[in-house]
Amino acid sequence: MSEKNEIINKFKKLVSDLKKHNRFYYVNDSPKITDSEYDLLKKKILELVKQFSYLKKIEDISLIIGAEPSNKFKKINHIIPMLSLSNAFDEKGMEDFIKKVNNFLNLNNKNLEFFAEPKIDGISATLIYEKGRLIRGLSRGDGTVGEDILQNLKTIQSIPKKIEANDVPELLEIRCEVYIGKKDFNKMKENFANPRNAAGGSLRQKDSNETSKIPLKYFAYGFGAVSPMVFKTQSEFLQKIKKWNFSTNPLSETVNGLEQIVIKHKKVDQLRSTLDYDIDGLVYKVNDINLQKRLGNTSNSPRWAIAYKFSAEKAVTKIKNIVIQVGRTGAITPVAKVDPVNVGGVVVSNATLHNEEEIQRKDIRIGDTIIIQRAGDVIPQVVSVDISKREKNSKKYAFPKKCLCGADTRKELSKSTNKQDAVRRCFKGYDCKFTAKEKLKHIVSKEAFNIDGLGKKVIDQFWDLKLIKEPSDIFELNYNKIKKLEGWGELSISNLKKAIEKSQIISLDRFIFSIGIRHIGQENAKILASFFSSIKEFSRLFDLKDRKKILLNLADLDGIGETQIQSIDNFFSNNTNARIIKDLIIKLKIKNFNIRNKNGKFSNKKLMFTGGFKNMSRSEAKALAENNGGKVLGSISKKLDFLVVGDSKPTKKKIEQAKQLDIKIILEKDWNKILNS
Ligand code: IVH
Repeated sequence: MSEKNEIINKFKKLVSDLKKHNRFYYVNDSPKITDSEYDLLKKKILELVKQFSYLKKIEDISLIIGAEPSNKFKKINHIIPMLSLSNAFDEKGMEDFIKKVNNFLNLNNKNLEFFAEPKIDGISATLIYEKGRLIRGLSRGDGTVGEDILQNLKTIQSIPKKIEANDVPELLEIRCEVYIGKKDFNKMKENFANPRNAAGGSLRQKDSNETSKIPLKYFAYGFGAVSPMVFKTQSEFLQKIKKWNFSTNPLSETVNGLEQIVIKHKKVDQLRSTLDYDIDGLVYKVNDINLQKRLGNTSNSPRWAIAYKFSAEKAVTKIKNIVIQVGRTGAITPVAKVDPVNVGGVVVSNATLHNEEEIQRKDIRIGDTIIIQRAGDVIPQVVSVDISKREKNSKKYAFPKKCLCGADTRKELSKSTNKQDAVRRCFKGYDCKFTAKEKLKHIVSKEAFNIDGLGKKVIDQFWDLKLIKEPSDIFELNYNKIKKLEGWGELSISNLKKAIEKSQIISLDRFIFSIGIRHIGQENAKILASFFSSIKEFSRLFDLKDRKKILLNLADLDGIGETQIQSIDNFFSNNTNARIIKDLIIKLKIKNFNIRNKNGKFSNKKLMFTGGFKNMSRSEAKALAENNGGKVLGSISKKLDFLVVGDSKPTKKKIEQAKQLDIKIILEKDWNKILNS
C-alpha cells in the first residue's frame, strides 16, 4: 500500500471512531470515553489534516469536529415542572378526550374551544424573563430539574434577550421547542440519527461558540411561571408574545369541536412534508386558561391538552417467525419477527401481535404476508393479513401454553367484570427469570428510580453477565468487572455510579410504583403513599396479620378497589417478592410522602363526597380537595372528617351514617364558599 493510501486509511479510521463516539453521546445518550480521550482523538484528526491537506477532500470534518458534548451543566429546579402530553391516535381518541374534559368540568359543550398547534419534534427548553430580561434558560431535564443552557440558547438569534414592551409581566417563563431546519440538517446528517438529535447535541455543547455554528431555530408554545398572570386564553398568549418578537408557529389556530379538529388535522397532515421542520401531530389545548387551571394535571400530563398524532405509517412485509415475550407483570405477548421493512423512515423487524385472542381472531400465521403500522414511538403493530398470498401448506399458529421459563401460564378471571382476561400470564414473578429481568427494566426507568445510563440494553447486558439478578444488586455492582467490558470507560462508569447513588434517595410514591405491583400505576402509588406516609408503615404489609387489617382499610381509599387490593395481597403473599423488596429497602433512603399542601384548606383532613355538584364534576371536587391538602375516602368510617353533600341526588343513607358518627356535613353552597374564601 502506498504511503498516501495508508494515511488515508488511518484518517478514515479515526474519523469513523470519532463519529462512533459522537453517536454514543448524541444518539445513545451514553458516552463511552472520557473528555480527554475524546479531545485526543480530535487532535489526531486535526493534526493529520493540517499535515496532509488532501484529506480535506475526503471528508469535511468541520461538522463533526465541533461536536463536543458536555454533561457538566448546572442543574436547576424548574419553577413549575415540565410535563409531557398524553396521546390520541385517532378520531375516537380525540372524542374521548373532549368527553373527559367536559366531564371533569361538568359541562356539556361539544363545541368547546380548543387551540390547535403543530407538535414540533425538537428539544424542549424554557426561557425565564425578569422585568423583560432573559435571565435563565433551561433544558427539560427530567421535568423537575433542568440544566442551565442559557449561554447556548442565547446563540439563537430569534430568541429575544430583552423584551421591548411596557406590558410584560414581571416574571415571564416561555416554554419552547428548539429544532434544526430540515435543509440545514441535510448538511450535517451523517453525524446524527435525525434532526432532533442534532438539535439536542447542539444545545448541549460545552462551548456556546460551537452551538452558534449550528443554525438552531425555535417555536414558543406555552408558558410556565407568569406573574402577574395577564393572559386569558392560549390564543391571546401567543398573539401577545408574537408582538414581543418570539417566534410562534403560523399554522396554529382555534378550533371548535371534533369536526373542526378533524378537518384541521387533515389539512396540516397534507402540508407536513412541505414544512422545514419535523412535526408528528398536532397539540390541542383547551383555549381558556381559567378552564386549564381547573382541569389541572395528572402525574405526568395536563388534563387540558393532548397530542393527536398523525396516522400511522404502513408497510407490507412477511412473518418469518412468531416468538413470545414475557412482560414485567408476567404477560405473555406474541411478537412477529418480520422481514425488515422501512416504515416511515424507521427499519422495523418486530411487530406486536398483542395476545392469543388477537392471533386467533385475525388468524395470523408464520409465513403470512401482512400489513404493519407504526405510530409515534409506540411498538409497530400487525394490522391485517393478506390471505390471498398465503401458502397452501400454512398451518394455524398454536399459542404456547408455557412461559419461556417453563412454568404453566393461564388467563385470569377479572373480579370486577367476571370476564376472562385476553392476556395469558406467567405467575412466577421474580421466580421467572424472564419476568424478573423486565421488572428490573421497570425499576430503573424514568418514572421509577430514573437511573441515567442504566437503560434497557444495559440491564440486558448486565443480566446476561449475572451482574444484576434482582433490584438490590443494582446497588452492589461489581465495577471492576464492568470496567473490563467493551464500551465502558472511566467516564461512563463514574457517571453510572453517581446516577445510582443519586437514585438511592427516593420518595415513597416513586418507590411503591417502582416495585411493580400489578394494577398499581403512578396515580395509585401516590394514593397509597399518601395513605401510608412512611416506608415504616408501608412495610407492615409484609406481616400477614397486619396486611389483612390494612387491606380492609385500603378499601376506604377513593381509587383503590377490589382489583388493586387483591393484587397487593398477591404481591406480598409471595415470599420471593417479600424477600426481594426487603433487600431493596435496606439499600435505600425512602423519603416520607409529604402532603402536597400542608397549609391548605383541608390539610390533614379526610373527606368524602356524595351527590353531584352544579359547577364541578366529582373528579374536579376530588382534585380540589387534594390540592388543598385533603385526603379523599371512598366510604364512610369514623376516620372521616367531612362528608361533602352535593345538591343532586346525594345518598340518604350516607348522610344518616355520617350524622350518627358525628361527621361534619358540608353542603354544596358551603363547599363553594370554602373554596372561594
Ligand atoms: S404543550 C405539559 N405544545 O411536546 C406539556 N408541547 O410531549 C405542554 N411540544 O415537552 C406541552 N410542540 O417539548 C406543547 N405546540 C406544542 C408542542 C409541544 C412540541 C413538545 C414539548 C413537550 C412535549 C410533550
